[in-house]
Amino acid sequence: MSEDVFSKVRGVLNSIYEFRIETTDDLEFFRVRYLGTKSEVKALFGEIKNVDNDKKKDFGILLNEVKQAAEDKYASVKAILESADGTGLDSGLDLTAPSEPIISGSRHPVSVILNQITGIFSRIGFTVAEEREVEDDWHNFTAMNTPEDHPARDMQDTFYLKDSLTQLLRTHTSSVQARIMTTQKPPIRIIAPGRVYRNETISSRSHCQFHQVEGLYIDEGVTFADMKQTLLYFAREMYGPQTNIRLRPSFFPFTEPSAEMDVYWGLNNEDDYRITKGTGWLEILGCGMVDPNVLVNCGIDPSKYSGFAFGMGIERQAMLRYKVTDIRQFFENDVRFLRQFSGVI
Ligand code: DAH
Repeated sequence: MSEDVFSKVRGVLNSIYEFRIETTDDLEFFRVRYLGTKSEVKALFGEIKNVDNDKKKDFGILLNEVKQAAEDKYASVKAILESADGTGLDSGLDLTAPSEPIISGSRHPVSVILNQITGIFSRIGFTVAEEREVEDDWHNFTAMNTPEDHPARDMQDTFYLKDSLTQLLRTHTSSVQARIMTTQKPPIRIIAPGRVYRNETISSRSHCQFHQVEGLYIDEGVTFADMKQTLLYFAREMYGPQTNIRLRPSFFPFTEPSAEMDVYWGLNNEDDYRITKGTGWLEILGCGMVDPNVLVNCGIDPSKYSGFAFGMGIERQAMLRYKVTDIRQFFENDVRFLRQFSGVI
């Protein structure tokens, strides 16, 4: 007789474990069936009289286990059903709701502009040359026809490495011209993007580090007209097919003649007046025919070869394109700033 009662209790315990509760109605049904005044568990307590005396203690322990199992299950499922999202149950779980957005990274605006520039020149046969940022003064200055007493060599303008008068942080990507011309034979057709450093007071308009792209083309019979056509192509790819350019005479130690190239930006609003200082023209880059002294310094025969070079700053172009008013933002890496460029490639 006892054994029958024991197996009945085990049967109820199993049914408690297996009972599926998915809705609040299920929960109420469960409560009535196992915890109410007329529950199956209550009925089992009435069976004690049928248990042999020496088994009554074990039976009591088993009954308590059953009661506890029903109470625990009821409490934990109730808590889930009442929780805000009811995960796993049908209390408001919306499988069609959009998920939390996955925040993906974004390209830095400086590399967006750099990529565009390298892309434009690579389409007309220029290859990318990357070189060191820690340079010696020969490649940065001497080879580039910048005399010993030139003010750019002053500590005020150039970061020299500690205890060194020859090792420095390159002040322009023009140093790459010397690196390439001393190691490669013409024809040379490269552009050199990279970071440069100058000992400048940091402000919204200038920084002690920024990026430039250098261009160099050396071959037999390269003329000023080749340079002008190449730069016009670049300007129209970069700023639109109607873009006009002008070349103004200028001076750089490493080019002769030298020029600065402006693109016509327009004068449509107050911003345009401010940015172009009322002229409508915007200075974009420095350029010129490579000075024969530079060719000689780098071991290239100027009676056989000629070439042109150009160099431009990147941050300024990124500032114009994205209406950034403070150059420091490019280096602070504040994600609120950088996230604005997500999706820009
Ligand atoms: N190196 C110059 C600068 O940092 C820019 C430049 C001007 C580069 C004329 C050139 C060039 O190659 O031909 O201001």
